[in-house]
Amino acid sequence: MRLRFALGAHLPSQFTETDFYHCAVTPNLDWEPLASVFHYHFLPAKRGKFLVSIAACADCHTPQEKGQPVSGMDFAGGFVLDGPWGRVASANLTPDPSGVPYYDEAQFLRTLRTGYAGAREVNQIMPWSTFRNMSDEDLKAIYAYLKTLQPVKHRVDNSLPPTYCKVCRQSHGAGDQN
Ligand code: HEC
Repeated sequence: MRLRFALGAHLPSQFTETDFYHCAVTPNLDWEPLASVFHYHFLPAKRGKFLVSIAACADCHTPQEKGQPVSGMDFAGGFVLDGPWGRVASANLTPDPSGVPYYDEAQFLRTLRTGYAGAREVNQIMPWSTFRNMSDEDLKAIYAYLKTLQPVKHRVDNSLPPTYCKVCRQSHGAGDQN
């Protein structure tokens, strides 16, 4: 396999880190551009994975059943938080069109910094006011990591009344559309 990438070009989403190592041991391959591509595409995602684990994003963004994460639903949203802040379900952060696909990196940073997703105010239980203090680099790394997640088809929309969702087995806005 001989691969050449324009720097910063997007790799096919199915290109994994293992593929990268396969390329890296392929004779006659220019190492240098590949190393930059590796840095660009994989290292931020790795740092992002670490940051996401310490920020406990999955604790709220993975739906639970009897206190256990619903399998196959990592980061797919629908976890309901009910309290003084209102009744709100977490968003689907996986890169599926039913999730938050309208996010580009700049928008993602804006949401986590301002607590607004476009014109819509994000519920205060989503701890953006803590996350806003992360550096641009760290937020971009989180964004890069979220892009590597397994896409899960799961619509969650807090502007709609809660209805039963057969996918995550919770009641949340747009649940009946899943
Ligand atoms: C305490 C629970 C909690 C934690 C921890 C949490 N979130 Fe959230 N998040 C939510 C809830 C609930 C919503 C939905 C808020 C709404 O719809 O108003 C949300 C919404 C979001 C949105 C906005 C989606 C949209 O509607 O446009 C993004 C992006 C997001 N979270 C990313 C993250 C990331 C990244 C982390 C970790 C760094 C994280 N969240 C950690 C609860 C949480």
